[in-house]
Amino acid sequence: MGQNIKFDFNNMMAKFIGSEGFTDDEIFALGDTSKAAFDFFKANRGTGMMGWSELPYNQADVVADMIDTADYVRSNFDNFVVLGIGGSALGPTAAFQALCHLRYNDLPAKKRGVKFFVEDNVDPERMLALLDVVDVKKTMFNVITKSGATSETMSQYLIITKILKEKLGDKYSKNIVATTSAEKGNLIKLAKAEGFKTFFIPDSVGGRFSEMCPVGLFPAAVLGIDIEAMLKGAEYMDKKCESANPFENMALMAALLQFMAMKRGKNISVMMPYADSLKYVADWYCQLWGESLGKAVTLDKKTVNVGQTPVKALGVTDQHSQVQLYTEGPFDKVLTIIGVEKFRGDVEIPEGAEEFPDVNFLCGHTMSELINTERVATEYALTHSKHMNNTIMLPEVNAFTFGQLLMFFQLQTAYCGAMLNIDTFNQPGVEEGKNATYALFNRNGYEKKKEELDSAPAKSDKYII
Ligand code: PA5
Repeated sequence: MGQNIKFDFNNMMAKFIGSEGFTDDEIFALGDTSKAAFDFFKANRGTGMMGWSELPYNQADVVADMIDTADYVRSNFDNFVVLGIGGSALGPTAAFQALCHLRYNDLPAKKRGVKFFVEDNVDPERMLALLDVVDVKKTMFNVITKSGATSETMSQYLIITKILKEKLGDKYSKNIVATTSAEKGNLIKLAKAEGFKTFFIPDSVGGRFSEMCPVGLFPAAVLGIDIEAMLKGAEYMDKKCESANPFENMALMAALLQFMAMKRGKNISVMMPYADSLKYVADWYCQLWGESLGKAVTLDKKTVNVGQTPVKALGVTDQHSQVQLYTEGPFDKVLTIIGVEKFRGDVEIPEGAEEFPDVNFLCGHTMSELINTERVATEYALTHSKHMNNTIMLPEVNAFTFGQLLMFFQLQTAYCGAMLNIDTFNQPGVEEGKNATYALFNRNGYEKKKEELDSAPAKSDKYII
């Protein structure tokens, strides 16, 4: 296996799950669809909102700057806090969990770098809790927002800058790095006026596809993660997916199978890593898949209301909650399992309880054997009950395989969106919510939206108990 990640879709096939599965002929019959999606991506990559596909190839200078700035942060600060939400928070969180010690912040200072936090939500208790555990004077805040207008991020920014100014006066700007659009939005204007260090989000890279640009790479560099290896992994996967034949292009095959599953009414996609380190990759995937493919209309404006509802699960934890539903419930979902061949450490289950064979059978095995055996057992149970499932195997979790995994999902999403003939890269539903928030807060320019909200029927007490 080397450093290759693999996609095993045996359990999507009729050979293993009978009529619930697909035949080779059904896949061949959609040859034109997959070829068209492949050609569309190939012809348009790097253009429009597909700038993410070129990130492994065009960032040498900015990578050097990020690594230098990260060194400076590690030498001068105790904490690093990401202020951002959605695509600006999920990637950094996923990389932190995947590639750092699982109890990183709790390690003694000598065994780690700066403490790391992602603010994400605007729950006041969360902000107060953060302020209880960091000394803001010793904290670098990385405010990440492409638009510079997102209410959550900008309110976090305003709260933090007020506190920083009170504590540090004019020097406060040394505690902020702004990651934003080079030209558009408010944050770049503020950054220029206040003299913040800046990194740029290319216009052609949307939030959920931004982990491989400074949005994700700079926080990762601060954590000491090898960001060049991450990009190399993404490049490796990109090159591995150069064939128009889905049997030779794992992302194209993965997209095609989900597309075919959707056509059969399987509108739920469960992502279940069997590794705590990959827990938040499932969260990141949920945004990527849900926000990219959940669309009302096709590119030619036909109403379709397509998309698969992404669900996150964690193996083995959710074997004891969700898996009953997945093995015996409706045939309306595809389960994707992520397995890890070799964990970065292992723990032996010691001998003991000799008189209890029901416990003793575990002795002498390791925890990695147990988690991987339970993964195989779940795959068996799903397959036995004829529920579609597939497995992505990582040889181990490292920066290179993490880069491969993220690129795999991005390519799969782009291909699947092309098969559905939708705009994979917009998010009008999210914008609608953002605009409604602006209107409800009486922001200038949103008067019409406010009128629209005010003219909606008033809620009836009859329906509130
Ligand atoms: O994928 C997306 O585009 C969104 O989830 C954005 O990342 C999110 O809304 C934050 O937007 P911004 O970076 O403009 O603050």
